[in-house]
Formats: sequence, structure tokens, C-alpha cells
Amino acid sequence: MAVIPVALAGRAYEVVIEEGLLARLAEAAAPFLKRYGPQRPVPFVADTNTHRLFAGGIDAHLADHGLAAEWFVVEPGEDAKSWDVLERLCDWLLRLGVTRKDHVIALGGGVVGDLVGFACAVVKRGVGFVQVPTTLLAQVDSSVGGKTAINTRAGKNLIGAFHQPSLVVIDPLVLKTLPDREMRAGYAEVLKYGLLGDAAFFAWLEANGTQVLARAPAALEHAIATSIAMKARIVAEDERETLDRRALLNLGHTFGHALEAETGFSDRLLHGEAVALGMALAARYSARRAEITLADAERVTAAIAAAGLPVSLAALGLACDGAALVAHMRHDKKAEGTTLPFLLLRALGEAYVARDVDLADIACFLDAEMAG
Ligand code: GLY
Repeated sequence: MAVIPVALAGRAYEVVIEEGLLARLAEAAAPFLKRYGPQRPVPFVADTNTHRLFAGGIDAHLADHGLAAEWFVVEPGEDAKSWDVLERLCDWLLRLGVTRKDHVIALGGGVVGDLVGFACAVVKRGVGFVQVPTTLLAQVDSSVGGKTAINTRAGKNLIGAFHQPSLVVIDPLVLKTLPDREMRAGYAEVLKYGLLGDAAFFAWLEANGTQVLARAPAALEHAIATSIAMKARIVAEDERETLDRRALLNLGHTFGHALEAETGFSDRLLHGEAVALGMALAARYSARRAEITLADAERVTAAIAAAGLPVSLAALGLACDGAALVAHMRHDKKAEGTTLPFLLLRALGEAYVARDVDLADIACFLDAEMAG
């Protein structure tokens, strides 16, 4: 079992990673379930998919440990990160009588984790929660670090809080049932860690990415653990993203966010796919600024394409120009007045926050990319 500490003073917690952990959840999360029993069920939040796949096994397993689960089940997809679902979830938690000493279990992908984390941040000014992420994207990114949020008409993740989980339980075995497209989308975030801060990991992924995507146990666990170890380090250094450390985790996200907004945050482009294309664009833009070589930018593109992820803006066939994409970027919550910090590459394995990027030049660059 890999155990990765997230060293935050007063809020330190562990991320535990091992095949089969979900079937041993009562042991893995034992310190956080002590206040529950047959008459006081553990609050679990899932979506209809994770509920269908895992609730039966969890109910039986908890019963073996003298525990029971009470389920709150949401529809899959971003619509669950809404005021309406948040209100219903908070009411449900209050009806169950959760206290600040209790822990709620979030069993699902990023949507469930973000929703539960935010509900737990606000109910009684802070209830504990345990993340049990069931997508690769949630395992390597959103379940760790305490960013929680819902979406509103004004945009995604604009209402939220930093609220760290008490434990993150990662069972790579749950990825067996994850659709391949979602697996690839999560893999984009894995590649991100190599690109932003670990050239040796990037090279390892170039050689072993196929194994990771095929869910080969050793390769998958190594990829997840290496990704989380980097995220844990960065979060411990810059929990609230004020020091240009945590911002590095947004590599590919500024371009990606604009693409997601232009495609209506729809299945046309999943978040991880938008990040993948965004990282290819960030690499090519870094080459345009002569910060990395064209050969390095091509290496980034090749690694992303090898995973079956999108690398070409032209192939996306957007009915807009570069200026329209830049307009989406201006609504990004990272926008600072009229400028925007961009995550660019100084080398493969070394990202940095560029604050001198001319948005008109970005629009020209995107026009050229769209022309193919
Ligand atoms: N997903 C980026 C972060 O957690 O900061």
C-alpha cells in the first residue's frame, strides 16, 4: 500500500492507495467511522453509476463490521454541482444529524467529491469527509487538495471553499469499470504532472502510458502514486494558490477552460480532453516564445496523441476565432484585471506562471492553430 501524507498544519491527512481497498473500506477508514453503528448509518453520497456498481458490496461489507450506510444518490454529470442539489444534500445531512465530529463519504468522480466537499464545508461550518474517488481524474487530481465547489449560471466552480478531506482512499481496481474515454481524460492530468514538474516521470509515461491506460496494476499504481505525491507536495506548499506553486497544477487549463466553454461544457470535449489539448497548445505557445524547442513541443504533442487524446485545434472544428476563445479566458476565475496568468513551459518537466502574455498574441496564435 502506498501512503502519501498531505502535510498541512492542523489539517494533515493521508492518501492511501491499494488495489482492493474499496472492499476493505471499513478498515481503511476505521478512525473516521467510530461514531457510527447499526442505528447510526454512515452517510454515503454517490451518483447513480457508483451507487449501482458499488453500493451492494459496501452495504454487505459494512454489515460485516456492525455498520450500515445511508445513501444520497445524485444524477451523474455536472448538473449535480448545483444550488438545488447542494440544498437537498445539506438538508439531508442535517436530517441525519451529522455533527462536526462526523465524516461523510464521497464515492464518485470529481462532481461527487466537489459537491460533498462543499456541502461539508458549509454544514455546521465544517463537517469531516472522506474522499473515495472512482475516476482516474478524481484519483490523481480533484480528490486531493481541498478545492470544493458547485457551478452557477456565472460559471463553473465559482462558488466554493477550501475544505480538506480527512482521508482519501484510492482503489485502482475501481477503474476497471471506467469507460476508456474517461480513463484517457484522467490520464491527461497524469501527463500534466510529468510536464509541470518531473521530466523523468514524463519520460516514464512516454514509455509506459499504454500500460497505465490498460490498467496494468503496477504501472497504474505507480502513475497514481507519483501524481498524488507531487500534488500533495504542491498543496502543502501553497494550499490556497497564492504563491504561484499550486497554480502550476493549472497547466493546460486556461486554454482548456476556453475550449470547454466554447463547446458548452458538453460531452463534445471532456474536461481532461480539454486539458490535454490545452497542454499541447501551451507547449506550442512556449515554443513560439522560444522557451522550449519545437522538438520538445512535438514530444509533448506526441505523448498526448499516443494516449488517444486531442492535440489539434483545427480537428475540433470550432465555429469561432481566437478572439472568441480569449474572451472565454477573460471570464476565468484566475483572470487578474485585463491580463491572465498563463502556465507555460521552460523545459519538459518545468512549468512556470507567465504574467507577460499578450492576449492579442494568444488570439493570433489560436487563429493559426485553428487554420491547421
Ligand atoms: N486541480 C487543480 C488544483 O487542485 O489546484
